[in-house]
Formats: sequence, structure tokens, C-alpha cells
Amino acid sequence: RKKKMSIIIERYKDKVSALPKINNAICKYEGFWYAHGFWLTGTNANFSVEAIMDLQDEFQALPTDVFLASHAKAGTTWLKALSFAISNRTKFKISNDSCATHPLLTTTPHDYVPFIETESFLNNPSYANGLMATHMSYTSLPKSIINFGCRIVYICRNPKDVFISYWHFVNKVKDEFSNPMDDVFESFCTGVYLNGPFWDHVIGYYKASLERPDNVLFLTYEDLIKDTKNEVKKLAKFMGCPFTSKEEDDGLVQGIVNLCSFEKLSEVNKVNQNSTNTKKVLSNDIHFRKGIVGDSVNYLTPEMIQIIDNITREKFDGLNIAF
Ligand code: A3P
Repeated sequence: RKKKMSIIIERYKDKVSALPKINNAICKYEGFWYAHGFWLTGTNANFSVEAIMDLQDEFQALPTDVFLASHAKAGTTWLKALSFAISNRTKFKISNDSCATHPLLTTTPHDYVPFIETESFLNNPSYANGLMATHMSYTSLPKSIINFGCRIVYICRNPKDVFISYWHFVNKVKDEFSNPMDDVFESFCTGVYLNGPFWDHVIGYYKASLERPDNVLFLTYEDLIKDTKNEVKKLAKFMGCPFTSKEEDDGLVQGIVNLCSFEKLSEVNKVNQNSTNTKKVLSNDIHFRKGIVGDSVNYLTPEMIQIIDNITREKFDGLNIAF
């Protein structure tokens, strides 16, 4: 049954109107900044704080559900592709030379693994098929996800690379390079932008991964780049579908790595293919840029590097988070 966004907006009107806001565009809820009012309704970018509130009140997870959590630009698309390929490997066969019919070769991973705090998910939760994603903070997750012990995979990435990836992203979404780097840098460092602050987001999931290691897996983009095969095996095991020795011998792990590689996915997502019925304000190729570690050194001034490094050192003090 479809949920009417206007009804949800009305239901949470008082709650949302009491939240701190910037330019009436984003609001701060439970320590993080989100969009409100479903202002991109009917599109594939329809995140909203009202959706988070609705999920917190009504979402019933199943114990078998898997949630992929991330801060934007940390490697969400890659993690979605890998997890989808892993969990559907019986249904959608993969092999090194004949993955030509795999759905990921025609459709963006975002269409298969929906973000839950969106209009499209609230309208049609069943299309998730047990694998879902979120950019919301750990502390704001609907209680049923925690109470049922659902598996949560978090992907973290070096904040300097996240920032540079994000800066390119916002400038692609808006007019080409209309957002000066200094302005975006200021909002990234102060945490006042969609899903910010980055560091608090990471800390929430990191601490949860220490407290509940069977339920929360903490991965990094850098480890995934360094040793993709091993990380993919770790991911499959955590998701409850480890590779058998036969699958490994048959080259299935490598097949998934190849299928989800930056080269492959960026190639097949160059054009808008197989759209869902939501309008695309984010084109499929917007999620792919360079796909490397350390590109931020090519953009950041030494002062900017120092500022981010100082925040990271201070915020992550005493935590063993390495990129
Ligand atoms: P860069 O802008 O540094 O290239 P998200 O999916 O969370 O929005 O993150 C986007 C970042 O992940 C972008 O980083 C993008 O290029 C990179 N990325 C997307 N798909 C990838 C893949 N298959 N392998 C490695 N990196 C990938």
C-alpha cells in the first residue's frame, strides 16, 4: 500500500517545525542534518527526515534483513553492488567470462538496494528483498533493526577523500562548479550538510561494531581497494552466505570483484539505463568519478589537509579507526 507523503509530512509537521534549520533547506535531527519535506518528491533523490521519523515509528525489520550503512561518498554504490551480487549469486549467475546477463550490467545498484529513508522505499518497501541501505546515523535507526539483531554493514572512508568526492558530487548535481570549494569545505568541517557531521556518523557505527560485532561489520573503502577479494569474502561470511571452497575454486569471488569493479560499473552506468518509475535527478553515472584512494591531495591545500587531519585526530582519539 502506497504511503502518501503529504500525510507523512502533516503527521510530523510539529516535530519538524521545532528542529533547527539552515535556510529552511536542511534540519538537524538527533545530531545530524537531513532534508525535510520530501522536496524532491517523485525522484530518485527523495530522502527526507519525515521518512526517518516514519520508519522509527512504523518500520518492522525482519531478522534476516541486511542493512548497508554509509556516509554519502564513502563507497555506498560499490558496497551495494558487491552485497547484491553476493546475496543473489544463485539467482544471478556470475562467472569470469559469462556475466553478460547480470542485472548489474544494465541497472544501477541503487535500483536494487534502496535507501530506506526515502519516498520510494516508503511507497514500496517490498522491493528491497531483504537488502537495504541507509545514510542515517546509527542512533537514529529504527529500533526493530537493532532489536531483531539485523546485520548492518558500514563502509567508512578517509574524510579527505570523502570531502573531495562530495565536492565534485554537489557540483555535478547543481550547476557545474557553482559551489566554491571553500564553502563546501566549511560545511563539511562544521558538519552542516546532508548527513553530516561525517565523524559522528562514523563513530556511531564504529562503536556499535565493537559492542555488537556479530551484528555490525565495519569496513573501509581503503581496505576494499587494497584487498578486494578478501574483503568480499569477509562480507559474504558476515551476510550469512560465505563462499564454499568450490565457489572459490570456480573463481566466483574474483568474478564478483570483476563485475563490481569501478571499471566495469562506471562503464555500464555511463548512460541512464532501465530506469525505475521514479524520475532520475541523479544520473546513474554521477556515482562514479575516479574510484581511487588519496585523490584529495590533488585538490586540498596543505592548510585544508591540516584542518581535516586535526578534526579526525581529535574526534577519533582513542578509537582504532584507520584508513
Ligand atoms: P570518487 O569521487 O573519489 O571517485 P558513494 O557511492 O558513497 O556515493 O561513493 C562514491 C565514491 O565511490 C566515488 O569516489 C566513486 O567513484 C567511488 N566508486 C563508485 N563505485 C566504485 C567501485 N565499483 N569501485 C571503487 N570505487 C567506486
